[in-house]
Amino acid sequence: MAQGEERRWPPGPRGHRLTGNTRAYEADRIGFLRRSHREYGDVFSYDEHTLFVIDPELAHEALIRTGDTFVTELAPFDMRRDTDRAAEHATSWMPERRSAWPGLNRTAAAMTDEPTVAILDAVITDGAGHDVDVLTTMRTLTARTIAEYCFGADHAGVAELLHETVRATQAFAEASREFPAWLPLPRHRRYFRTYRRLTATLTGLVRERRASPSGRSRDDLLGFLLAGEPAPSVDTVVSTLHSVLMGGHGVPAAALTSLVWELARRPGLVHDLRDEADGAQTGGTPLAEAVIRETLRLYPPAWLMTRTAATATTLGAWTLGPGDDVLLNPYLIHRDPRWWPRPDEFDPTRWLAGQAAPGSAYLPFGAGPRVCLGATLTMRQLTLTTSWLARRFTVESPNAESVTLEFVDRLAPAHLRARFLPAESARRNNG
Ligand code: HEM
Repeated sequence: MAQGEERRWPPGPRGHRLTGNTRAYEADRIGFLRRSHREYGDVFSYDEHTLFVIDPELAHEALIRTGDTFVTELAPFDMRRDTDRAAEHATSWMPERRSAWPGLNRTAAAMTDEPTVAILDAVITDGAGHDVDVLTTMRTLTARTIAEYCFGADHAGVAELLHETVRATQAFAEASREFPAWLPLPRHRRYFRTYRRLTATLTGLVRERRASPSGRSRDDLLGFLLAGEPAPSVDTVVSTLHSVLMGGHGVPAAALTSLVWELARRPGLVHDLRDEADGAQTGGTPLAEAVIRETLRLYPPAWLMTRTAATATTLGAWTLGPGDDVLLNPYLIHRDPRWWPRPDEFDPTRWLAGQAAPGSAYLPFGAGPRVCLGATLTMRQLTLTTSWLARRFTVESPNAESVTLEFVDRLAPAHLRARFLPAESARRNNG
């Protein structure tokens, strides 16, 4: 912004004289955002340094400009708004990201069907008939899937550590106030302790594999990474694996929980999926893929993404200073009647027969240079899982009608419980 130029900042709810909008937001996050959207439009301010963007084109633009004028990944407790450190991290991450891609692309993803089914069998079939907490079950499933994807059979202990790490980071996501990292708060100590344990375990696994004669064989992601030219350092490989493990665990587990929520309330859809899956060889079917796309539209696990201006810049009509935050909201964009007919209705058929999504109005995987690295892989695995579940089970839930969505870290129905009943016995029970 040139000197003397007026800062253009959007209007927004003024909130309480001392606490601003924090209370209202914490009491009902999505309600607060819907009200503000209605009252102030597609871009509104939350405070002097934070604005929300519900405009798909502007949200897209902020994502595309990441690495240029916007940064991401400030640590959860980073009060210093250290955008230089975030930019430095991005500089080292982008080559790591490129090196991981051959291990995550379509060809690599196609190799994962068999292990995915074996893990589904171990986690879902073994617990069939029991009442389970769906999110916990799905986290067990995704932790094992991603650990095995990264390390093949050598993944012992990694899945458990992932659970622990997610629990340790959850405390930050749920807290409305940030405290400096050096404060000896229990949640900081726990986070650093868990982070160190995970790093030590990953380092051990990478060193061991590097020393083995078959270490560079491309049977799992670690093999792909070690086969890279020039040979990457142990630290680089550990950091890449860390990002993939964290990205590939909690988020798909949230998506699967929302999927089960829909399946439990739609026995007719389960039948249609089963009919289609029975006629197919293996893998997912077009309807299963449409069900996943629709699940990610109505319940995008990454319902809120943050970008921070690294320098003075503009976004649309608005002027941003370094350190200002832009919060992008796929949840509201995905439910906007301007882009989606019958936006709150779960209707997978909208994805069939080539009815394409309206471009930038569908952002479950983000966009731009930091778009989800696991999107191809996860679409394949989630589609396969949908067909697999429908083929084998009927889903019953004692609380599907009463649970509500939780807008905390990852969007998912809170405390959903379900039973996976083998399809044959369900047919018998229903006469
Ligand atoms: C339902 C499944 C998934 C969804 C909805 C999802 C969504 C996302 C989104 C929205 C982002 C970008 C966040 C931002 O820009 O702030 C992201 C980044 C990322 N995702 Fe996923 N993800 C999923 C599954 C996975 C899986 C299975 C993996 C690993 C195999 C993965 C690995 C990553 C990584 C490494 C990043 C960081 C990319 C970067 O910063 O360059 N994701 N994901």
